[in-house]
Amino acid sequence: MHKRTIRDVEWHGKRALVRVDFNVPIQDGEITDDTRIRAALPTIRALMEAGAKVVLMSHLGRPKGQPNPKYSLAPVARRLEVLLGRPVAFAEDCVGPAAEAAVERLAPGGVLLLENVRFHPEEEKNDPAFAAQLARLGDVYVNDAFGSAHRAHASTEGVAHHLPAVAGLLMEKEITVMGRALTDPDRPFIAIIGGAKVSDKAPVLENLLPKVDALLIGGGMANTFLVAQGYELGKSLVEPDAIDTARRLLQQAEQAGKRIHLPTDLVAADAFAPDAPHRTVPVCAFPAEAMALDIGEATVAAYTEVIRTARTVVWNGPMGVFEMPAFAKGTVAIARAVAEVHGTTIVGGGDSVAAVEQAGLADKMTHVSTGGGASLEFLEGKVLPGVAALQDK
Ligand code: 3PG
Repeated sequence: MHKRTIRDVEWHGKRALVRVDFNVPIQDGEITDDTRIRAALPTIRALMEAGAKVVLMSHLGRPKGQPNPKYSLAPVARRLEVLLGRPVAFAEDCVGPAAEAAVERLAPGGVLLLENVRFHPEEEKNDPAFAAQLARLGDVYVNDAFGSAHRAHASTEGVAHHLPAVAGLLMEKEITVMGRALTDPDRPFIAIIGGAKVSDKAPVLENLLPKVDALLIGGGMANTFLVAQGYELGKSLVEPDAIDTARRLLQQAEQAGKRIHLPTDLVAADAFAPDAPHRTVPVCAFPAEAMALDIGEATVAAYTEVIRTARTVVWNGPMGVFEMPAFAKGTVAIARAVAEVHGTTIVGGGDSVAAVEQAGLADKMTHVSTGGGASLEFLEGKVLPGVAALQDK
């Protein structure tokens, strides 16, 4: 990675103003998944051990620029305390006297979490005066919030113009692992792209097509590709406006000598419901009254054969409606195949990450990205503003 990191800074006694992505799901005040908090621990621990005063800031949810107890980071401070086994102070505001006094009280090695930066409308506007207020709380800015790096907000981008700005260890890992897959992958390099819509994933497909050896397509978006090839898929989700895009991508692949694999069979359900009657049918004999909710066994077998040969796999987007157990089989089978690859396996994007975790296979992957929108934009080849703002080596 060509950005400076926390390893390039002499920390003792310095205030590290660290942007983390603690945007975790909370239900009735309870954190239901603390993956993102755990993912930030290596950076926090390294800074504590180096004698820095660690000032953490994050957003949580979309409170629309207003303080709202529902989106308070206070429960996150308590969970972080448990995970670190050390006290974590909490400041009721992320700027101003409350925040400044709390930072003042920190000893080297101490940790403070500031309240949600999105309680101020200036955060999402990337307001320079607000960024300067944040910058008063640190000597060096650390961005470890890969999941928010696609946002040019005050705490992810603006503040980097006021302080020396370096990457945290999670940020470094995300960019290094995914960056290497895009620039210098071990081959064969296979991308598996799923999810509902071609329109959401077309930029990723366009960026990946020249780089991969093969693309495997599943999920609702496969329907649009199949319709572009002339198949009729009954009442399945199809994006009429994206049929041309699908056709163009298929042509591009052919011209480049790359293979885009599409399902040869699908699980046809009578309704979009967890208990809907369903059966597996070949794509050429799809019932007029049914809708496709998963890839079929023959497709799983064919995709598994391709995945088995891979030395690098990037996976974004589920193969079917995996939230419904009856239609999760394709996604789980693909997760298993990816988990068995002898090489680099990267899972990015909220839904495919959830599917891999649900299948209990997250530990078997080389890298499970903490970014949803951010990893998608990274795979699209976009420069993420939160990364661009960091100092080059
Ligand atoms: C995410 O969950 O993808 C990030 O935390 C960004 O959140 P946002 O989409 O509300 O900016």
